[in-house]
Amino acid sequence: MPETHSQKIASTDFLVIGSGVAGFTYAIKLAERFPEKQITVITKSKTLESNTRYAQGGIAVVTDTNSDSFERHIEDTLIAGDGLCNPNVVRAIVTEGPERIKEVADWGTHFDFQDGHVALGREGGHTANRIIHRGDKTGKELSNVLLSRVKGLSNIQLLKGHMVLELMMNHAGACCGVIIAGATGRVSIIQSPTTVLATGGIGQVYAYTTNPSIATGDGLAMAHRAGATVSGMEFIQFHPTALYHPDLKGPFLISEAVRGAGARLKNSLGEYFMEKYHAQKDLAPRDIVSRAVFAEMERTGADCVFLDCSNIDKHEMKTHFPTISKKCAELGINLQTDAIPVKPAAHYLCGGIDTDLNGATSVPNLYAIGECANTGLHGANRLASNSLLEALVMAHRCYLTTSLVPAKREAQPYETVLSIGTELLQPLRDELRNKMEANAGILRTTAKLESVLLRLKELSTVVESSLQKGELSVEGYELRNMIAVSTLIVQQSLHRKANVGGYFNTDLLTANQLSQANHSA
Ligand code: FAD
Ligand code: SIN
Repeated sequence: MPETHSQKIASTDFLVIGSGVAGFTYAIKLAERFPEKQITVITKSKTLESNTRYAQGGIAVVTDTNSDSFERHIEDTLIAGDGLCNPNVVRAIVTEGPERIKEVADWGTHFDFQDGHVALGREGGHTANRIIHRGDKTGKELSNVLLSRVKGLSNIQLLKGHMVLELMMNHAGACCGVIIAGATGRVSIIQSPTTVLATGGIGQVYAYTTNPSIATGDGLAMAHRAGATVSGMEFIQFHPTALYHPDLKGPFLISEAVRGAGARLKNSLGEYFMEKYHAQKDLAPRDIVSRAVFAEMERTGADCVFLDCSNIDKHEMKTHFPTISKKCAELGINLQTDAIPVKPAAHYLCGGIDTDLNGATSVPNLYAIGECANTGLHGANRLASNSLLEALVMAHRCYLTTSLVPAKREAQPYETVLSIGTELLQPLRDELRNKMEANAGILRTTAKLESVLLRLKELSTVVESSLQKGELSVEGYELRNMIAVSTLIVQQSLHRKANVGGYFNTDLLTANQLSQANHSA
């Protein structure tokens, strides 16, 4: 039976959706600056699940100006983005990075040191060693530090296990809060003059992903329904080396930093293949490595390729990559003698909700930071380990902007027509993920995109009808968002007329080929 309509209306000074690096960093800064204000952080999982927790490689940042420079980091980011980055945004985020890293280090985040200096790893597309890390669990370290700081701030109210279903809009078209469902499915409203989306990624719309189950693109779908502009959705980054093993439960990444330490990809015939595809070989930008892996899988007919780590020193493997070493040992993979079976998986959304350099979206009073936002940093393909950096810098910039004139709370009653039912629609969720994997993955074709778009329209009709009848469960609301995000990915893919960065349609030419063809015509 559907639950009765909402009666409960609460209000807060600042509303943050998401408890990953972006949401928590923003909330901490505000709470420290305004002890008298209430900051409410809403997060849908009871266990504070997030993409942040799983970050392995680390954070790309210039720390050693003898061996590296801002200009090099900027250049590497622009090259990876394949001409579609916003250079002003790249410069701001790269140059403000060191200050933000110092801040989280001061808060207690530990990064590895070697010979008295911060240890620097290497990842694809970087021309210098610049990835600071804590072993291969940088995200866990950062998440734990942020959580303990949040716990120490009594003016942060953390609502775990609460899913935001929809943004509330006022008559002037501005965001004024959210509608949420609590653990019991009870629907309520939280009003706020400032709402910040920090809802992370979309990996779950693909059957094979490195992202945990929370990554269903809710913030993106809600912002789009509220009228925010969303772009770059065709640029899904596929990580080349997700672990592929029959006994594996849930996603598991083999960090690019392992290739940075010397590991090499080989196909099922035992051939090392990356030199055929790019001068930077195994450390080429990620889109190139993923397509190369995919091509080798197709060519050999195998389900995966293999990552050979035998030339990494045993001690370094254990100390730099303890989580990966443990997981491989659990699965019976001996890193000295066996190569790790890997294949590409949906990993990161380079586009998202369009924002300016302060996190403001095109909807008044609505901000977006972290992976759900499209600042223009990543262009057509994100440079490895630039996203934690972006989340820290943008959380700070958004905090500065939204704290300039703390908006007043308005106690205005709102009505909601939403209700929560029990309709699960699990088979539709599985179907969507499989269809997106098959038709909107690494290599797309126009026909495949058009066919999946038709099915997405049908799925949307089913879900909207359950919604209208008040039969949709919380999981059904997630599915609704996944359909909306998938539709945006497919529509924006179909709009692109040349291949660029992480977008590859086998029916199209690359931007260079297209301009040559136009010249000779
Ligand atoms: P998240 O950390 O994903 O947090 C999103 C939050 O929003 C969660 O708390 C979620 O519960 C909440 N939420 C979502 N929808 C709702 C809703 N409807 N209602 C309430 N709450 C909601 N990047 C790097 O820079 N370096 C790395 O080494 C690196 N390694 C990675 C490894 C893996 C396996 C993965 C998956 C990603 C990695 N990334 C890495 C990417 C990086 O981790 C993410 O881009 C970044 O952590 C995103 O942070 P975020 O705060 O934007 O979102
Ligand atoms: C990795 O460790 O390979 C992931 C890094 C990233 O996604 O930025």
